[in-house]
Amino acid sequence: MSFESEVSNWKYSNFLINKRTKFSKNNILSILSKNEMDEAYRIISTWDNYSPTPLISLNKLSEKLKINKIFYKDESKRFNLKSFKALGGAYAVEKVSRGNKEIVISTATAGNHGRSVAWGSKKLGLKCKIFISEYVSEFRAKVMRSFGADVIRVKGNYDASLKECIKQSKQNNWQIVQDVAWQNYKLVPKLTMAGYSVMMKEISEQINNEQISHVILQAGVGGMAAAMVAGIARYLDNVPKIIVVEPDSAACVLESVKAGEIKKISIKKESLMGGMSCDEVSLVPWEILKNSVSYCITVSDDYISKTVKFLSNSKFSDEKIVGGECSTPGIISLTGLCNDSKIKNEINLNENSNVLLFGCEGDADEELYQKLLNA
Ligand SMILES: Cc1ncc(COP(=O)(O)O)c(C=O)c1O
Repeated sequence: MSFESEVSNWKYSNFLINKRTKFSKNNILSILSKNEMDEAYRIISTWDNYSPTPLISLNKLSEKLKINKIFYKDESKRFNLKSFKALGGAYAVEKVSRGNKEIVISTATAGNHGRSVAWGSKKLGLKCKIFISEYVSEFRAKVMRSFGADVIRVKGNYDASLKECIKQSKQNNWQIVQDVAWQNYKLVPKLTMAGYSVMMKEISEQINNEQISHVILQAGVGGMAAAMVAGIARYLDNVPKIIVVEPDSAACVLESVKAGEIKKISIKKESLMGGMSCDEVSLVPWEILKNSVSYCITVSDDYISKTVKFLSNSKFSDEKIVGGECSTPGIISLTGLCNDSKIKNEINLNENSNVLLFGCEGDADEELYQKLLNA
């Protein structure tokens, strides 16, 4: 089947309009402030080998979908760590350790956050303990060990790995650097979000005065999505329509937006998009997302391998792109929305639209990436 006829069949699964949308720049910047974001950019931009990741035009896809432009932020190129998470965990490690070489850093992770924390700890000569669930691939564990971290595998899911991390960290007086907030633990997750906001600073300089009309943001616990919303408030002149995309099996932001309060969901089956397979939106992101998200959408795992292949063999753009599983839902959901003429019209997606998508990771899990390419 040709690329054109293939993507013409793609569908989103669920779509929800947020009835409480009321974008308030002041409110957003009171949660993640201009100073916190500026400080993150000031520090991260001095790191060795820092350079903005590419903003690629998916010109072939935009032609197919009859949209003016589709921008794709390619985080596969982020510091050789192959995901945007490089900006968050490592930055938080630097801020919390404040030059103290005796601190032991700990975290629980689905993979990319831990890689960032391990890398950041290694840069600063700190010991690092990383807790992973039974679902995190051995490949990802190996990469974290290669940065000198002790990787501890815990039976059960991500929640179980986080519980164990908290327990052992209390016992041993380790400093937890987590990307998820809970009551009385908000400062460090906010630092990770401030780190992520560097992406939007770069984008604001890469779009050459064009206005973004729609942005699609992947969510796990919502940290990345909320950081991008804060970045929009800080760096963009206009407010695009903000769309959050999640796996069907882990739509914790959609369910919370529907209810108007945080809802913990139960994950029946882990999505292939492992970094997004989360059952509860984090506290700080929720405060930002609840009134700024325009729409929530979910997608199945069915189109992931096709999207990975189309990215790699330049079907969407002039250049080849290495995009892992979590880089696909923006493209899948946008295509699904455009295949539904009623919704497309309702949300003003048309030949004047400039859509921003996030290629959150490259082949961060090389084995899974090869499997998806060859599926
Ligand atoms: C690799 C990866 N991990 C995690 C996430 C989710 O980020 P967060 O948990 O901050 O919402 C994403 C978002 O797409 C991702 O691509």
